[in-house]
Amino acid sequence: MCSVVGYLGSKDASLFLLEGLSRLEYRGYDSAGIACMSDNELKIVKERGYLSALEHCVYRQGCMGNVGIGHTRWATHGKATQNNAHPHTDCNNKVAVVHNGIIENSSQLIGQLKNDDHTFSSQTDTEVIAHLIATLQNKHNDLNDLVVDLVAQLDGAYAFLALLKDYSETMIAVRNQSPLCIGIGDDEIFVASDVLAFAHYTKNVIFLPDQTFALLVKNTVKVFSFDGQAIMIEPQEVMVDHQIAQKDSYQHFMLKELYEQPQAIINTIKSLPAQFEEQNKKQISYDLTQIEQIHFIACGTSRHTCLIVQHFFSFIANIKTTVHLSSEFVHEQLFDTPNTWYIFVSQSGETADTLHALRHVKKETTACTMAIVNVAFSTLAREVDLVLCTKAGPEVAVASTKTFTASIALLYWLANKCAHKKELINNNEFDNVANQLTHASNVLQQSLDNYRDTITFSLASKLIDAPYYIFLGRQQGHTLAKEAALKAQELAYMPALAVAAGELKHGPLALIEDGLPVIIFSSQNAEVYKKIISNVQEVKARGAYVLAIIFTGQDELATLADKSFVIASVTPLLEPIAMVSVMQYLVYCIAQQRGCAIDKPRNLAKSVTVE
Ligand code: G6P
Repeated sequence: MCSVVGYLGSKDASLFLLEGLSRLEYRGYDSAGIACMSDNELKIVKERGYLSALEHCVYRQGCMGNVGIGHTRWATHGKATQNNAHPHTDCNNKVAVVHNGIIENSSQLIGQLKNDDHTFSSQTDTEVIAHLIATLQNKHNDLNDLVVDLVAQLDGAYAFLALLKDYSETMIAVRNQSPLCIGIGDDEIFVASDVLAFAHYTKNVIFLPDQTFALLVKNTVKVFSFDGQAIMIEPQEVMVDHQIAQKDSYQHFMLKELYEQPQAIINTIKSLPAQFEEQNKKQISYDLTQIEQIHFIACGTSRHTCLIVQHFFSFIANIKTTVHLSSEFVHEQLFDTPNTWYIFVSQSGETADTLHALRHVKKETTACTMAIVNVAFSTLAREVDLVLCTKAGPEVAVASTKTFTASIALLYWLANKCAHKKELINNNEFDNVANQLTHASNVLQQSLDNYRDTITFSLASKLIDAPYYIFLGRQQGHTLAKEAALKAQELAYMPALAVAAGELKHGPLALIEDGLPVIIFSSQNAEVYKKIISNVQEVKARGAYVLAIIFTGQDELATLADKSFVIASVTPLLEPIAMVSVMQYLVYCIAQQRGCAIDKPRNLAKSVTVE
């Protein structure tokens, strides 16, 4: 998704802008650009494609100045062209703007401005901000008044930076929902969508509160609310691991991250007792024994985490649970029922729909909110009552792997913690939780080691030309089927259906034809296993090519399937951790052999910061 960066200081701004943008590349983009104030003129360079293309242009065309703004764009309004790349300007090149978010009333504003003889040169919603600023300059002599008037006219979620030729030493930074933070360095100020852009230069950070703006002049940051009132905000010290993740000897980040799963799980469970104590010190009154209901809310793979862990809380801790898709949840009517918790799961902690869902809960209820995130200083982590972090380290590949399993492990521990507090399990049982998780993570590793060669050298090639895949499962296996279908779509661009095996006869069975790959996730539960056998017989009878991920001793299923992957037994609720790596690696290989861009699939972004 789009990222913005800004610099004010005594150095060449373009150097930081390019570097800062490269540190935010993980968010995904299709074009990039920068603007610098140079001898009271706005110099703009932008280009389609990777940052390296922009770097060449900056090198060739030059773009020097001590004040500058930069952007990577992920197309929403208008194609990924050089013209649509940011920064955008007004008719007279007196204002330059970079923006992350969506201006929802842009068509209406553009219509009005066109009537006033403004000419637009892009198809973006962003350009309207530059034209509006230029118009408002005729009305206001004071920048504060100008921005108050400006934000009153804009609808939507946005974070933008603006440079004005008439205020050549000033930068305007505005935040409404989309994240924006300001780093205070020695004699220089950095601005970015994410602290990672400048964390190697300064640890002193102002996270711009929602619906505020800042006027930045050399060494001075003045923050105002949207109605123009000054707000005092002290920078906070932020300890962020700013090392840039390296692929090491792996061909892709995804492969590396897939192999890092056992360590991510172990690091997470080791950190939990201390993290939990830390949360206990918060001035928030909460009592794990009183929770009657939990709503889990997330998007994408994080939602699959929720679908898996909801069973932990109901079976182990006797708590009623519901799972919601963030983007749908925001439209729901909420009831402020007592002893209800809302748990938001997000790798990035910046997913716009999930943040919107959190704000919906905070507005409509008094319930306790909790975040499970991998990025400790993310917006979600800052806005909830309680936060627990997975310790998976930076996840670079767009498709989540290690944060999926680490968040399942974290929430397994938390469900057991609730059960322990409620005296539903004894000390020994609670002490055994870490062992169960460690064992499941060892099985994840073994399965990967056992089947890596078969998948790489013989299996993946058999599957790459299939028209589509069907993934089948029951209970936890059904959720894994959903995660597998998502992975097949995002990584291998393959249509894939996730079917609850019991639903086969209600429709999907009509799709089965000779040779169609059907991948089934088994279960250690005897009842479920029996039914899965029948389901496999049904698809086999119609010619499907069946791959089965099964547990030790499930010989009947092994015989029925064309190919089976045998997984060692684990604690039944932790089957998803044990089974997932074979599926992840299988889809990884299919994507690789189909020549797909594994770490950065087309059209997708790691951090989805627009709704
Ligand atoms: C994007 C990513 C997915 C991720 C989802 C939710 O779609 O490609 O891998 O699961 O966002 O992201 P979050 O950061 O909230 O977990």
